[in-house]
Amino acid sequence: MLKIAVIPGDGIGPEVVREGLKVLAAAAKAADVKYDTVEYDFGGDRYLASGEVLPKGALEELAQFDAIYLGAVGHPEVAPGILEKELLLAIRFGLDQYVNLRPIKLYPGVWTPIKDKGPEEIDFVVVRENTEDMYVGTGGFTHYGTPQEVATQVAVYTRRGTERVIRYAFELARKRNRKKKLTMVDKSNVLTYGHDLWVRTFAEVGEEYPDIEKDHAYVDATCMWMVKNPEWFDVIVTTNMFGDIITDLGAMVQGGMGIAASGNINPEGVSMFEPIHGSAPKYAGLNKANPMAAICAVQMLLEHVGATEAAERVEKAIADVLASGRIPDLSAGKCPPTSEIGDMVAEAV
Ligand code: NAD
Ligand code: IPM
Ligand code: MN
Repeated sequence: MLKIAVIPGDGIGPEVVREGLKVLAAAAKAADVKYDTVEYDFGGDRYLASGEVLPKGALEELAQFDAIYLGAVGHPEVAPGILEKELLLAIRFGLDQYVNLRPIKLYPGVWTPIKDKGPEEIDFVVVRENTEDMYVGTGGFTHYGTPQEVATQVAVYTRRGTERVIRYAFELARKRNRKKKLTMVDKSNVLTYGHDLWVRTFAEVGEEYPDIEKDHAYVDATCMWMVKNPEWFDVIVTTNMFGDIITDLGAMVQGGMGIAASGNINPEGVSMFEPIHGSAPKYAGLNKANPMAAICAVQMLLEHVGATEAAERVEKAIADVLASGRIPDLSAGKCPPTSEIGDMVAEAV
């Protein structure tokens, strides 16, 4: 019995998760997968009512599941940073989900803003480090609110943290067995301490992977290459902050925020799957958001837990619906209603 924790979260989170669960139910039925879900009300409303983001013991409880399925966090009435750090980052860090896996794949039938590029050219994966960098929350203020104010936000990189995510990316390049190429993206021309550690670690770990071609690109140039020559990429490995930024660009390259999904992976523990978009408050409750990203996250979840047939069915259903032309525009408000897209994919499954 597969045990899945569900955190719908804020804004459009609940409505896209509802569609994801519809597709999960259809796939489980078709592939004969037994599963059980437990829903958690973590998010902005709970925080506003109780003052609490994650209750005591929540991480230990989440650690008991086979996987976690998350919608989105971020509430217009809650100051930025509270839910993001105490809910989303608390789970990523607390469950040591050190890989943030973000596929950038253009499905046939999906519009891309990049002229002359299609599904053949746009198919790569970003492996974003997920537990270090500026995200650790080290820093502070002195002389707060005065003209002399100093603010620091420290980027932390450890040898262990760097090595494990780079090794994961090499393994992935091998497993994908496509171009067998791993591109490290950094800013080692300026961040001469932290990213020097990345460069050295990449070179050392790379010696264990003679079959994988090693490539390097600075993050600024990467933004340019992702638009100009996306076909150069197979697997990218990068730091937490850069990975966050380039995957929103990657989302657009693959058709928009409506379709980009991710997995927060702890290869030895419990992983969490979510669309990469946020709570998009202006679309909340309107049945206008595209649930495809949340559905793609279900596909990644099923694949990760080894429900291969169910995952394949979802992937094929997503591809079929997209190829059918029934969703000519993936963007919120222009795509068919949220619930109809869920129905389409569930039926195709
Ligand atoms: P956002 O991703 O919520 O929305 C930005 C825009 O992307 C939307 O206006 C919409 O045009 C598009 N979009 C988002 N989801 C879509 C969908 N399902 N279908 C179609 N289009 C979609 O980013 P934001 O406005 O910068 O942030 C809003 C809140 O979400 C903030 O509180 C932020 O901190 C939070 N956030 C959370 C996550 C997460 O939970 N992983 C990720 C990003 C942002
Ligand atoms: C994402 C989001 C998060 C991040 C925020 C909400 C903490 O932007 O999942 O990409 O920066 O990782
Ligand atoms: Mn982001």
